[in-house]
Amino acid sequence: MSSPNLTLRGYRRSDLPALFALDLLCFEEPFRFSRAAMRQFAESPNAKVVVAESGDMLVGFCIVHIERFEQESVGYITTLDVHPDLRRRGVAHQLIGEAERQAREANCGAMLLHVFSGNKEAIRFYERCGYLKVGAHEGFYGIGADALIYRKAFKVS
Ligand SMILES: CC(C)(COP(=O)(O)OP(=O)(O)OC[C@H]1O[C@@H](n2cnc3c(N)ncnc32)[C@H](O)[C@@H]1OP(=O)(O)O)[C@@H](O)C(=O)NCCC(=O)NCCS
Repeated sequence: MSSPNLTLRGYRRSDLPALFALDLLCFEEPFRFSRAAMRQFAESPNAKVVVAESGDMLVGFCIVHIERFEQESVGYITTLDVHPDLRRRGVAHQLIGEAERQAREANCGAMLLHVFSGNKEAIRFYERCGYLKVGAHEGFYGIGADALIYRKAFKVS
């Protein structure tokens, strides 16, 4: 299937209902966010949010927080969501590419994320994008729901 015609842009407050609705489509409990948490993550002063639109439909988004971690700034991927009808057409690649660009611009040395150890699609996606497994966090999402930790260092240019 061909790539959808996408527009990437920043977050607007009016996006919040669409972000929340898409997150409900993308995640089961306990991985989905409440509306309040989504707002807090998207509107945090250290947030970089990339939104993907196809026509007038919000089809994906990525929220990254710029954080200090072990003496360097990192872009921490809080969430990455793509509408189920538009998967495997490169939407997430475009979102993460732009999120990484913005993190580099904010002087980050790397990207970092947690992903549920059972989320095979996302793990495959991140590995395909050059992320390396650097650790695990038992019970990160609750009892019996472990996270893997992935990191991608930016090459110094
Ligand atoms: C993970 C996710 C963001 C990928 O989005 P996407 O737009 O489909 O990804 P892209 O089209 O850019 O990249 C596709 C690549 O990712 C991997 N991938 C994605 N879905 C896959 C699947 N169902 N099976 C195997 N590999 C998969 C493959 O490497 C694939 O490349 P290929 O199609 O050439 O085999 C999407 O499946 C999603 O929103 N999932 C639910 C939310 C989630 O888990 N988010 C990440 C955790 S924070």
